[in-house]
Amino acid sequence: MVPATKYVGLGRFVLLAVLTCVPRCTTGVKRPNMVLILSDDQDVELGGMTPMKKVNSLIGDAGVTFLNAFTVVPLCCPSRSSLLSGKYPHNHMVRNNSLSGNCSSILWQKIEEPQAFPVYLQKQDYQTFYAGKYLNQYGKKDAGGVAHKPPGWNVWNALVGNSQYYNYSLSADGKEEKHGDQYEKDYLTDLITNRSIEFLNKKKPGKPFFIMLAPPSPHSPWTSAPQYAGFFSNVQAPRDGSFNQSGKNKHWLLRQAKSPMSSTSVDFLDNAFRKRWQTLLSVDDLVEKIVMKLNDTKELDDTYIFYTSDNGYHTGQFSLPIDKRQLYEFDIRIPLLVRGPGIKPKQTLQHPILNIDLGPTFLEIAGLAVSNTTMDGQSFFPLLTAPQTNITWRSDFLVEYSGEGNEEKDPDCPVLGPGVSQCFPDCVCEDAFNNTYACVRTLAEASLQYCEFADQEDYVEVYNVTSDPHQIDNIVKKVDPTFLQAMNQRLIKLQSCAAQSCRDNKR
Ligand SMILES: *[C@@H]1O[C@H](CO)[C@@H](O)[C@H](O)[C@H]1NC(C)=O
Ligand SMILES: *[C@@H]1O[C@H](CO)[C@@H](O)[C@H](O)[C@H]1NC(C)=O
Ligand SMILES: *[C@@H]1O[C@H](CO)[C@@H](O)[C@H](O)[C@H]1NC(C)=O
Ligand SMILES: *[C@@H]1O[C@H](CO)[C@@H](O)[C@H](O)[C@H]1NC(C)=O
Ligand SMILES: *[C@@H]1O[C@H](CO)[C@@H](O)[C@H](O)[C@H]1NC(C)=O
Ligand SMILES: *[C@@H]1O[C@H](CO)[C@@H](O)[C@H](O)[C@H]1NC(C)=O
Ligand SMILES: *[C@@H]1O[C@H](CO)[C@@H](O)[C@H](O)[C@H]1NC(C)=O
Ligand SMILES: *[C@@H]1O[C@H](CO)[C@@H](O)[C@H](O)[C@H]1NC(C)=O
Ligand SMILES: *[C@@H]1O[C@H](CO)[C@@H](O)[C@H](O)[C@H]1NC(C)=O
Ligand SMILES: *[C@@H]1O[C@H](CO)[C@@H](O)[C@H](O)[C@H]1NC(C)=O
Repeated sequence: MVPATKYVGLGRFVLLAVLTCVPRCTTGVKRPNMVLILSDDQDVELGGMTPMKKVNSLIGDAGVTFLNAFTVVPLCCPSRSSLLSGKYPHNHMVRNNSLSGNCSSILWQKIEEPQAFPVYLQKQDYQTFYAGKYLNQYGKKDAGGVAHKPPGWNVWNALVGNSQYYNYSLSADGKEEKHGDQYEKDYLTDLITNRSIEFLNKKKPGKPFFIMLAPPSPHSPWTSAPQYAGFFSNVQAPRDGSFNQSGKNKHWLLRQAKSPMSSTSVDFLDNAFRKRWQTLLSVDDLVEKIVMKLNDTKELDDTYIFYTSDNGYHTGQFSLPIDKRQLYEFDIRIPLLVRGPGIKPKQTLQHPILNIDLGPTFLEIAGLAVSNTTMDGQSFFPLLTAPQTNITWRSDFLVEYSGEGNEEKDPDCPVLGPGVSQCFPDCVCEDAFNNTYACVRTLAEASLQYCEFADQEDYVEVYNVTSDPHQIDNIVKKVDPTFLQAMNQRLIKLQSCAAQSCRDNKR
């Protein structure tokens, strides 16, 4: 019998001490600037960062690439809400992309937005700027319309609704601004770039700034800039790992996927794969323009630049054509690269970082402590500038997802449902109300995942990600029951954690 603690209790990243002055020491001196670039649906497991030559060189080679960055929930609105609030979904209460699931809801606006990270930064005298997609329901009538400008932002250019490249509306500081489909005037990724440069030209001198840029790429409808439309014509979705494999020992939604996939599904996902990369080239340009601009104005050495995404993505894994709402690595892993003052170039770090850690990290750079907030995440600032510091880092974390479904049967796909959704192409449904799960992911000496579904089967999936990185083999029937019991207890604890107790490694 293997003691459960071998897997759940021990893992810690303990590093040796060299204390340097963190920004908190620099009272009286202007605090560093920050730029956050948040892409939409950009995976890291299937080559999502391959087209990003400029990002990899201007941020990655100049700083740190985190090899184990995760979202705590693989869906746009809940994930973005986690980033903004620094909280797990069970604490910010945004469950899905609908208004009824609290996506940009009036209650979110009342309770969470006033304590999101930009509010703290503004109080610390940061000039704050937002451009791009915000939350999927943002700007719609029932969510307060475009007049709603969230607190904490000095300059606000937010997309109404979900990702678009053309024919969209923005809330420009609370006023509606309509856009058509002329590349030179309207292409959203470029517009975001241009607005951020304008902000840099106009901001007040002597005060630090925080810029958040959220381009639509590589989310559907995958409309690239015209000059990139023919790129990657020979590229296909990767054929290795779990591509085109059966999900037969997994939860019911994966068991119903058609495996092997039809050639129409494969053509569809290959096309999506190429188009996603094409749209990313404009994001690569965005990053280059910002870096060059900051270099021109001699602000680059005083600016932290963060690059990340809201969730991962899959194209054909376990024969699911395209989507992101699953518990597997391809959907929960995200890119995370950071450059900035005091960060040595060309580093890679293994520490598990979560999207809920970004807010606490920004706060520390601004001279604030996360312990003074209700955030669940943990600042990784010490890892950036003094990776030798003797700090204790988490060895596990929670991923929690509430499945989306439809109340009615899809007339084109009558086989399953009601209660299912995302049944395209080929009527392979990729989500359902009962695709509701919570997982403990450990990442230390052991790399394991334990997930429980809230469905009629109380389905459990367990993976040894060390020996089975593609999560082919669900080992729930092979592992010791005491291990399952310990994981279940840890899951219960994490599902009810709040603030400090989410950062607590003790079980
Ligand atoms: C929406 O948020 C409110 C306030 O946090 C909460 O009471 C409610 O339960 C949430 N709704 C859902 C569906 O989680
Ligand atoms: C934008 O809307 C116009 C008018 O409805 C339409 O003709 C055009 O095809 C749309 N462009 C895109 C890229 O969807
Ligand atoms: C952005 O600025 C560039 C350079 O001034 C210009 O060529 C381009 O048309 C602008 N694009 C948008 C969408 O504003
Ligand atoms: C999917 O698997 C089937 C069965 O092994 C195989 O015939 C087919 O070529 C595979 N498709 C792709 C695109 O790899
Ligand atoms: C910044 O500009 C200097 C010249 O002023 C140049 O040497 C350096 O390579 C530039 N850095 C980047 C990242 O472009
Ligand atoms: C934390 O809050 C206390 C009380 O409001 C305040 O005195 C202290 O300066 C804060 N510390 C940090 C680092 O935010
Ligand atoms: C690092 O931390 C550990 C545990 O907190 C402690 O036992 C050890 O002495 C520390 N090492 C140094 C060099 O401070
Ligand atoms: C979102 O969550 C709410 C509250 O649980 C639910 O009523 C609604 O049906 C969900 N939306 C979708 C598309 O599943
Ligand atoms: C999940 O929900 C679907 C659609 O309502 C239903 O057909 C299926 O039997 C359910 N499966 C489980 C395991 O609960
Ligand atoms: C996971 O796989 C690794 C490497 O094969 C092995 O050392 C470890 O014992 C496995 N853990 C479990 C729980 O199966």
